[in-house]
Amino acid sequence: MSGIDLSGRVALVTGASSGFGERFARVLAAHGAKVVLAARRLDRLEALADELGRDKALPVAMDATDAEALVAAVEAGEQAFGTIDILVNNAGIPDAQRAHKMSLELTDRVLGVNLRAPWVLSCEVARRLIAAKKPGRIVNISSTAHYRYDGGGAALYAVTKTAIARMTEALSVEWAYANINVNAIAPGMFVTEMTDGMFERIGDPRPGLARQRVPEPEGLDTSLLYLVDPASECVTGAVIKVDDGQSARMALK
Ligand SMILES: NC(=O)c1ccc[n+]([C@@H]2O[C@H](COP(=O)([O-])OP(=O)(O)OC[C@H]3O[C@@H](n4cnc5c(N)ncnc54)[C@H](OP(=O)(O)O)[C@@H]3O)[C@@H](O)[C@H]2O)c1
Repeated sequence: MSGIDLSGRVALVTGASSGFGERFARVLAAHGAKVVLAARRLDRLEALADELGRDKALPVAMDATDAEALVAAVEAGEQAFGTIDILVNNAGIPDAQRAHKMSLELTDRVLGVNLRAPWVLSCEVARRLIAAKKPGRIVNISSTAHYRYDGGGAALYAVTKTAIARMTEALSVEWAYANINVNAIAPGMFVTEMTDGMFERIGDPRPGLARQRVPEPEGLDTSLLYLVDPASECVTGAVIKVDDGQSARMALK
């Protein structure tokens, strides 16, 4: 994977201020892409852009619940670097509450960040790629919660992650003719700020995991690179599970 050359490509990564998103931005930039860094915590994005180089990275303050801010982020990226041809829909929030105890405000926020924003951004990026007659890659971040909900108090999170997987399949069909590939990665439990909070609540999960470890975000590098590599052009509508063997498997009949 180290030979993948993304020079001339322009990526937009949501949630680039921490966790997977920060790692994805670093990996794409290291392989030559220009990267638009989008999230709410602008100070973190500024620091990352300074590190990556301002000629390669553009920090954009964006609240994913604000549709106008989503479109503005795409426009800012295009003005700075040209048509965005890699979109990583990564920003996401958990809803660690029982479904029937969730406020409407929290319900809308989870749906807004985890589902509406990736939809709006995908459509905005695709519209511009189709107009420019350019191919593109969209990578959505689902979760193993797409396959299994264990009743731990994150039902709506699981719903959005399944919806993202279905959105991946549907939009891959929608835009196949335009050479826009839409795929997803479904990670298991990895070390990020999201799981930091979870570990504080539920304790150390490692003893219960097959490999007795919680992997770092670097564990997704090759999956991301595979999905944006020009050589994987026939791969679209796929959901790649990357869970370090954490999830139970159903036996095939
Ligand atoms: N870590 C895991 O074990 C795991 C497993 C499966 C799937 N995932 C998925 O991986 C993705 C990344 O999560 P992570 O684990 O890297 O957690 P994280 O470190 O908490 O990152 C979440 C990112 O989302 C951004 N975000 C949250 N609300 C936002 C909003 N309203 N507008 C814009 N950006 C917003 C945050 O940026 P700001 O706060 O700066 O806005 C942050 O950069 C999520 O979709 C998550 O569901 C994680």
